[in-house]
Amino acid sequence: MPGDKSISHRAVLLAALAHGTTIVCNLNAGDDVARSLRAARSLGAGVETADDDMRIVGIRGDPRIAGTIDCGNSGTTMRMLMGLLAGRGAAVLDGDAALRRRPMERVAEPLRRMGADVRATPGGTAPVRVRLAPRPLRGIDYEMPVPSAQLQSALLLAGLDADGMTRVRSPLPCRDHTARLLQAMGARIQSSALSVAVERSRLQAIERLEVPGDVSAAAFFLCAAAAMPQSCLRIDDVGFNPTRSAALKAMQAMGAALSIGNERCAGFEPRADVTIAGGSELHNFSLDPQDVPNLIDDIPALCALAAVAQGRFQVRGADELRTKESDRIATIVDLLARFGVGVTATRDGLVVSGGAALRAPAAVSTHGDHRIGMMAAVLAVAARAPIRIDDAECIGTSFPGFKDAWAHAFLAGEHPA
Ligand code: S3P
Repeated sequence: MPGDKSISHRAVLLAALAHGTTIVCNLNAGDDVARSLRAARSLGAGVETADDDMRIVGIRGDPRIAGTIDCGNSGTTMRMLMGLLAGRGAAVLDGDAALRRRPMERVAEPLRRMGADVRATPGGTAPVRVRLAPRPLRGIDYEMPVPSAQLQSALLLAGLDADGMTRVRSPLPCRDHTARLLQAMGARIQSSALSVAVERSRLQAIERLEVPGDVSAAAFFLCAAAAMPQSCLRIDDVGFNPTRSAALKAMQAMGAALSIGNERCAGFEPRADVTIAGGSELHNFSLDPQDVPNLIDDIPALCALAAVAQGRFQVRGADELRTKESDRIATIVDLLARFGVGVTATRDGLVVSGGAALRAPAAVSTHGDHRIGMMAAVLAVAARAPIRIDDAECIGTSFPGFKDAWAHAFLAGEHPA
């Protein structure tokens, strides 16, 4: 799998802030992380490829004042940069049409409470203007209204440069990659499942930072294999951080023959090899809303699998899906309906009625959302019928080699379309 996208963004942006040189191995090569790399370079970090790795030399002194930084489709780049710049720099952060629709005020508002000069548009969206803060930032104790790792990360990055303690509390545990890396880079940090606090700290580079394979990319391959009788697929070296890997447990709960081996910790992140055999009898269940943040990016893959499992698959507590690269409640429902699956959107999730035969349409749209594109590929495997995925370039935001990897996994001996 490509390097984990979430961890890759953090590796780049934290290495840009750190003193010294960090070599990042298995960095995600998609367009989203490329946006973070370009941003780091425009703020004064040294960024260059070194064989298959990326060498990042931390910014000396304060970040360069940048003009406009184009974050493309990448919400993680934009939100983390808001926090990174809040106490140290200035720039206008902009992005593509989809990113311009996503909520940014949720990050700007607590940053202003810390004393930053950060303004979104009146609608609370990008472009976001960050000006040099008139005074040093001050730490706050902040209770996030939603369990967002991007919001938490932005505030922690600002907190590295603030007087006093910056504490961020979450209503539910969310991915903890930022806290792990901050700790590894020597930040003064205390973290527990629902609260992370930092004090002003100077980060130190890490000589070699290994990024695990992306478990959220793997989820699409695993769900397709689970839906394909007689298949057997092993994916080595994927992230197995408990705050990210709840989808693997959900698949097991559905009856998939999924096993975890070679569990280890490297690069400050747990990782494992995952094997799945297709053809087990699958039955649906209701996702526990408490688990949603730990599998939020994997709901498209799980919904595709739910289409072929018996019974009802209910997702609740997932209103955040509406603020992703597309309104994922709407786009998942639309895609499943195109395959003839009974599905209903609810206010905070959806209900899939699984088990009926799939009817593959000739072509589907991704709505510009990489995970909807990969979900369509899972449904095509489950329906055992070729489909055309229109506007599939967006898959390159997280998984540039997707087509070849998919053909390698599922079309061995057949001609990839
Ligand atoms: C991410 C956090 C999640 C996730 C997104 C990546 C991150 O978003 O959906 O794909 O890297 O921190 P939120 O922080 O908005 O929940």
